[in-house]
This record gives sequence, structure tokens and C-alpha cells, in this order.
Amino acid sequence: MAEKSKVLVIGGTGYIGKFIVEASAKSGHPTFALVRESTLSSPAKAGIVEGFKSLGVNLVHGDIYDQESLLSVIKQVDVVISAVGQAQLADQDRIVVAIKAAGNIKRFLPSEFGNDVDRVHAVDPAKTAFAIKAKIRRLVEAEGIPYTYVSSNFFAGYFLPTLSQPGATAPPRDKVVILGDGNVKGKKQFLERCTF
Ligand SMILES: NC(=O)c1ccc[n+]([C@@H]2O[C@H](COP(=O)([O-])OP(=O)(O)OC[C@H]3O[C@@H](n4cnc5c(N)ncnc54)[C@H](OP(=O)(O)O)[C@@H]3O)[C@@H](O)[C@H]2O)c1
Repeated sequence: MAEKSKVLVIGGTGYIGKFIVEASAKSGHPTFALVRESTLSSPAKAGIVEGFKSLGVNLVHGDIYDQESLLSVIKQVDVVISAVGQAQLADQDRIVVAIKAAGNIKRFLPSEFGNDVDRVHAVDPAKTAFAIKAKIRRLVEAEGIPYTYVSSNFFAGYFLPTLSQPGATAPPRDKVVILGDGNVKGKKQFLERCTF
């Protein structure tokens, strides 16, 4: 039987990354997670880190802003999956540079996990984030790195609890800001069904 690819997840301790790390390890792939040192000692992330250890995940200290650590771990694997968050999306060019320098990566999955950014017509703030993701796609393609883009659309569990209101931690009760002109069919129908 063919040997399972070694998988590195960058951003594995994040909202989405933790599920990717778990799925990779449970599928029998030797799984590596690039984790910042500060995260390993963070009480908020202790549960995730312990979970990874119990699954046999190789925790590797590193940071996407530390090219040496990035290159060193990339050289040990076959597949790189990035699940970095909004603030690091543009800086994934560092991962692309390291993959190119390492020269051994069979497939790269940049941080996507949302709308297909080449086919969507969004308004800000989503528009800007989608443009960054599209720019990373073009870079990956220009460098000739084999890739997979995972387009999984919106996660209701992520946006619904706050009705997509930036910064909210609970459902808004008095006011909801509707982006764009407010006439998008799905959103209008959804809000008509909401009881506040
Ligand atoms: N479709 C949807 O509805 C939906 C919803 C949410 C997210 N997404 C997408 O999913 C992707 C991941 O988003 P997320 O919300 O899961 O991200 P997140 O929770 O913010 O997690 C970001 C991850 O990146 C790590 N990280 C941050 N800075 C780093 C650095 N300098 N070096 C290495 N790692 C670093 C974080 O590590 P620490 O643990 O150390 O902070 C964390 O593991 C994004 O592309 C986002 O657009 C889609």
C-alpha cells in the first residue's frame, strides 16, 4: 500500500485549523502542526494542544514570519495546508517562497475554506479579504506549485450567532447593519424570518 503523505498544517490551532489537524491525524497521515511558542503555553489553547498530542501530532515550533523554521518543517513533509486567519492571509506569500525554496512539496492548500474567490461578487469587508485570497492563488499558480483550493462557502455556525455583525459576541437585538444595498434576495428573506 502507498505510504501516506506527510501533512503540515500552518494555523492548526485556529477555528478551522484544529479540525483539519484532527482529520489528517485520524486519517493516518503523519501530521505536523506549526505552532508558535507563545501558543504552546497559552491556557486558551491548552485543550487544543493536548488534543493534538493525544492524536500523535508532531508539534513544531515556528512562525510564518520566521523563514528558517518554516523552511525546515516544510522540508519534512509532502503536503502543506495553510489555515491562517484573516490577519495573515496576505503574508502567505512567505509560505509560497518557502515551498518553492524547499522544492519537495507535492501539494499546497492555501487558507481558503470559504467562497470561491474567483467567482464571487462581494462587498467589503469580504471583498478585500477575497481579493487577498485571489492574489495568493495567482502567486501559487505563477510559481508552478501543485495546489487545491477548498471552497466551502459560509459556515452558518460562524456567522449566524452574531448575524455577521463585526465585533459582536452575541446576537444583536436592536439593530443589524446590512451590507451593500440590502436587496440581496437570500439576506432579505433570511432577515424577514428572524425574530428579535
Ligand atoms: N467559510 C466560513 O464561513 C469561514 C469562517 C471562518 C474562517 N474562514 C476561513 O478559514 C481560514 C482560517 O480562519 P480562522 O478563522 O480559522 O483563523 P483563526 O481562528 O484566526 O486562526 C488563525 C491560525 O493562524 C495561526 N497564526 C497566526 N499568526 C501566525 C503566525 N505568525 N505564524 C504561524 N501561525 C500563525 C494562529 O495561531 P495561534 O493559535 O497561535 O493564534 C491560528 O492557529 C481563513 O481563510 C478564513 O477566511 C471561513
